[in-house]
Amino acid sequence: MAESVEMLMQELDEVHDAFQQEIRGVKDLALLDDVRVKYLGRKGRVARYFSKMGQIEASQRPQFGNRLNELKQELTDAVASHQQSLHSNNNSGPRDFDLTLPGITPTLGFRNPLMIVMDEIKQIFANMGFTVETGPLVEDEYYNFEALNVPPDHPSKDLQDTFYLPNGLLLRTHTSPVQVRTMECQDLPIRIIAPGRCFRKDTPDATHSPEFHQVEGLVIGEGISLSHLKGTLVAFARKLFGRQTQVRFRPSFFPFTEPSAEMDIYFDERLGWLEILGSGMVDPNVLDGVGIDSEKYTGFAFGMGVERLAMLKYRIDDIRHFYDNDMRFLSQF
Ligand code: DAH
Repeated sequence: MAESVEMLMQELDEVHDAFQQEIRGVKDLALLDDVRVKYLGRKGRVARYFSKMGQIEASQRPQFGNRLNELKQELTDAVASHQQSLHSNNNSGPRDFDLTLPGITPTLGFRNPLMIVMDEIKQIFANMGFTVETGPLVEDEYYNFEALNVPPDHPSKDLQDTFYLPNGLLLRTHTSPVQVRTMECQDLPIRIIAPGRCFRKDTPDATHSPEFHQVEGLVIGEGISLSHLKGTLVAFARKLFGRQTQVRFRPSFFPFTEPSAEMDIYFDERLGWLEILGSGMVDPNVLDGVGIDSEKYTGFAFGMGVERLAMLKYRIDDIRHFYDNDMRFLSQF
């Protein structure tokens, strides 16, 4: 049997009054939530009337529906404003907690050791007068390879080794492109480092990661020689690893430097000599390519892997620890 709308309307008024009565006495948030659920919950006193809509004669449905919606809104607003006033009272009124108990210290995060080492490297070079440059992570073949004198058939250009994007761009495989970008737009002399992320198609294991960090260095000027390169890099290694650190240079090859050398440091009896960076005198082809007169100016460059340095410095045995964000690891530095 259909209930009369008048009766239902009257019931809504009763619900309204009962709610007002009840909420007035509520002094804490938990009780407030109980009242909210009782009236506005899915099976609450208000919802019950929504399910009665179907029984109401069609012509009277809109009127009843409006009143019901109004009621729902009114109660919702009342709960919200009551909640507000409970919150602000709590801040000024008598406290129901013990002020003499020790506070709860929020857990702070930790700096990643990679960033600690990166900052240390930057600081060491800043003290030697280097400024910091950055470049895009998405490069083109010109900056990543060609301008650096890398021949077209070089293995590092292989699809197996470099992440190419569909539009022909690529993720830079080293920070060396920043050398070229800097020479293009800075006046001489140049003395910069370029820290940043690099990418290669490597399968992750204890010593490889497809994403890693390098710090590049570049010095160009008149009369820059191999002895400047050696002096700078030996000073750097001793600052980072300690004053007694033994250093040696081994001849090597990079397309963008001639001659090229790798620098090793003597670690300990177990590990012996370990390579920490590549370096060399900037190849005249590279200078000419950016319009720097290679008869007049010379320079040196270097590049190092930050993960490797951090692993050596802190004796970390797996490169993947750097990216896991495990607090048990991060809290140790
Ligand atoms: N770009 C080289 C690499 O990723 C590292 C490198 C070697 C950078 C020698 C240099 C350099 O600037 O002179 O393996």
